[in-house]
Amino acid sequence: MAKELTFSIIKPNAVKKNAIGDIISQFEANGLKIAAAKLTVLSRKKCEEFYAEHKERPFFGELVDFMTSGPVMLMALSGENAVMKNREIMGATDPKKATAGTVRSKFGDSVGENAVHGSDSPASAQRELSLFFEKQELVNE
Ligand code: RTP
Ligand code: MG
Repeated sequence: MAKELTFSIIKPNAVKKNAIGDIISQFEANGLKIAAAKLTVLSRKKCEEFYAEHKERPFFGELVDFMTSGPVMLMALSGENAVMKNREIMGATDPKKATAGTVRSKFGDSVGENAVHGSDSPASAQRELSLFFEKQELVNE
């Protein structure tokens, strides 16, 4: 399996609780490498564009309020099977249902404030990465 890239966000609740280092350690311990990273606060416009597929969902407004409420860590992660591997490391969307030891089980507070985002397919990863990073910013080891 070839190396691939995925897009990851450490969400505002996890940044607030000083968990950036722990979460990145967990990615690295599981074979993912950081290919780009940026600590920033998302604008509403960018956040709505990012979550466009959820526009009609009842939680959309709440989701955008939360995701723009403080700093987030945006990352490109690289590795074998990176998209699926990252989803495994994160655990289920609802932290209460996430396997023990996963990032969401450790740092998630609720379904909404679930500590991390990860692309759900290689196609989503490409779309999401291109929203936040220029091609030349991605380190290709
Ligand atoms: P993500 O996209 O963030 O990696 O999470 P996911 O695939 O596991 O979940 P998805 O269905 O794509 O939902 C995107 C994000 O919306 C929030 N959400 N809130 N209040 C709710 O019922 C609810 N459901 C989803 C979560 O923050 C989820 O990560
Ligand atoms: Mg998703």
